[in-house]
Amino acid sequence: MGRMPYADVHARSVEDPEGFWMEAASAVTWHREPDRALDSSRPPFYRWFPGGELNTCHNALDRHVEAGHGDRLALVHDSPVTGTCRRFTYAELLDRVARFAGVLRGLGVSKGDRVVVYMPMVPEAVVAMLACARLGAVHSVVFGGFAPKELALRLEDARPKVVVSASCGVEPARIVPYKPMLDAALDLSAHAPRHCVILQRPQERAELREGRDVDWDEAMAAAEPVGCVPVAAIDPLYILYTSGTTGKPKGVVRDNGGHAVALLWSMRNVYGTSPGEVFWAASDVGWVVGHSYIVYGPLLLGATTVLYEGKPVGTPDAGAYWRVVADHGVNALFTAPTAIRAIRRDDPSAEMLEKYDISSLRTLFLAGERLDPDTYHWAAERLGVPVIDHWWQTETGWAIAANLRGLDPMPVKPGSPTVPVPGYDVRVLRQGGEPCGPGEEGAICVRLPLPPGALPTLWEDDERYVASYLSAFPGHYLTGDGGYLDEDGYLFVMGRTDDVINVAGHRLSTGAMEAALATHPAVAECAVIGVADQLKGQVPRGFVVLKSGVSADHDMLRAELVARVREQVGAVAALKRVDVVSGLPKTRSGKILRKTMRGIAEGADEPVPSTIEDASVLDALRATLGR
Ligand code: COA
Ligand code: AMP
Repeated sequence: MGRMPYADVHARSVEDPEGFWMEAASAVTWHREPDRALDSSRPPFYRWFPGGELNTCHNALDRHVEAGHGDRLALVHDSPVTGTCRRFTYAELLDRVARFAGVLRGLGVSKGDRVVVYMPMVPEAVVAMLACARLGAVHSVVFGGFAPKELALRLEDARPKVVVSASCGVEPARIVPYKPMLDAALDLSAHAPRHCVILQRPQERAELREGRDVDWDEAMAAAEPVGCVPVAAIDPLYILYTSGTTGKPKGVVRDNGGHAVALLWSMRNVYGTSPGEVFWAASDVGWVVGHSYIVYGPLLLGATTVLYEGKPVGTPDAGAYWRVVADHGVNALFTAPTAIRAIRRDDPSAEMLEKYDISSLRTLFLAGERLDPDTYHWAAERLGVPVIDHWWQTETGWAIAANLRGLDPMPVKPGSPTVPVPGYDVRVLRQGGEPCGPGEEGAICVRLPLPPGALPTLWEDDERYVASYLSAFPGHYLTGDGGYLDEDGYLFVMGRTDDVINVAGHRLSTGAMEAALATHPAVAECAVIGVADQLKGQVPRGFVVLKSGVSADHDMLRAELVARVREQVGAVAALKRVDVVSGLPKTRSGKILRKTMRGIAEGADEPVPSTIEDASVLDALRATLGR
């Protein structure tokens, strides 16, 4: 079958966005058809599908059941950490979601209200998200690896009426008590939700507070199912907080209409997936990959999604992913390069692959961090299927650059996520705003408007949206990544140009970690940088300058500082090393020279920047780090 050539599709998306996206919109079931695709009456704010009304949950569940696919598998929960596997058909998932929507409505949740979901990788997390969508309520899922303080920040910003959580999460080596973390966050938060719905898991039950807390099972047993509430295409579906340069997370807003259209288009064209196939994104519902490709993308399409509560290694071994592929007939697997590096570290010659029949697997998709060519070659050779790097971020909600599997395939260049996805007019710009030439590195930007599905703004903060993304290069969205386009139009993404770091595919803010270090009474100044790591891509590393007169035991102090970051940011920050230094290298205007610090920490032969205030600080830093 002849597939459309990429260049034609991309050109049309940029030259005729109205026609392109109205055509794509026909894959969605609308309550009221949109008047047009793009509303550009208020630049730099753009809205997609004005006048349109729909319900995202209806598109993800009801319409498949109504079309006679109620018996098709919608969700497989595969949980090696609890030794269980549960399967839900579309009809079963719809029944649960409709009833949980009844629970939320009974607790006072209606259209536009926020609901925070703080849950491990259990099917109830998916049920809670879809139930919010059903009511037109706005969910905000918070990743379980974040500490109470981070959760509290998000509660205060989103001001939810209800929080949905669980008694515990299960990590391979320990039970993670979620409910005490939620209680601690609620103590810290200036905003109090009316109710918390708590799923009691058998591994560790939680104490419920009379009047405020509601038991999930009891509420579900008493609940009546409710129907879908139509919402405007431009109404928010969810808020997802992500790390910015400062300690205060950014509330990325996702709308209903643009999101449904973009994800459906991506399932077919980026991932080459069809209804009824099995799609497995081995991520977490707390991250954008989980939102788009565990929950919404596969279900909007009518595919089967796998929700995996386990790790690539250690649950029980490096064959875990291949076992899941074989057990559920996975056609497309999406994970982070870190996971492949972890598997390779434990099973370098991929002997575990021999134990499982993974013939159902057609493609391995990787994203979340840079795919190093070494890992690419290892995976491509061992698996014998196309390994597709693609690049995107929480803000966009779907791929900005990819090798599109639903279009005429393009040759892979290891180290590049291939080409800009239709809808994205990608430009690499010099500091002054002129375009870079082929091979010349600059700031990767997208010419406005962003396509459907990408963020329309930040939650209740248009000003920060403009300041963070739209002001550096007028008329363009700043991705925060640096890189270049080569002479064939292939994009190479080299890494963040700001203080965001990427640890094992998890996006973290060095600002939040610095804020935690700074709360220690002995610390005068501090800096956290990301340094290269073979397994995790990057790991954070802290540097502190002590207040004068403090003569603390450095070993004890280091341990206290590491513990402080874990307590205040969360286990997922994985800050394991803090060094005490005599000074931080700074420019004459007081800006910390992080790039220079990173170079020294990684053992590079760093030049002394001309802007440095006191070059002797660098020698002291090199001596401390043994460089
Ligand atoms: N709830 C609570 N704690 C969590 C958590 C969660 N959902 N997820 C991770 N943590 C904890 C871990 O238990 C660990 O705690 P520890 O310091 O007590 O061991 C800490 O956070 C760091 O976890 P992690 O980043 O997973 O590192 P690891 O060393 O345990 O495992 C890998 C390394 C590579 C196996 C793991 O990072 C991995 O599976 N990465 C793939 C990431 C991924 O899929 N990202 C999604 C983007 S697409
Ligand atoms: P997140 O918002 O958590 O999805 O993280 C987005 C960031 O991860 C991007 O801005 C990049 O820095 C990085 N990233 C994601 N995918 C890739 C990729 N394929 N190649 C390089 N970097 C990536």
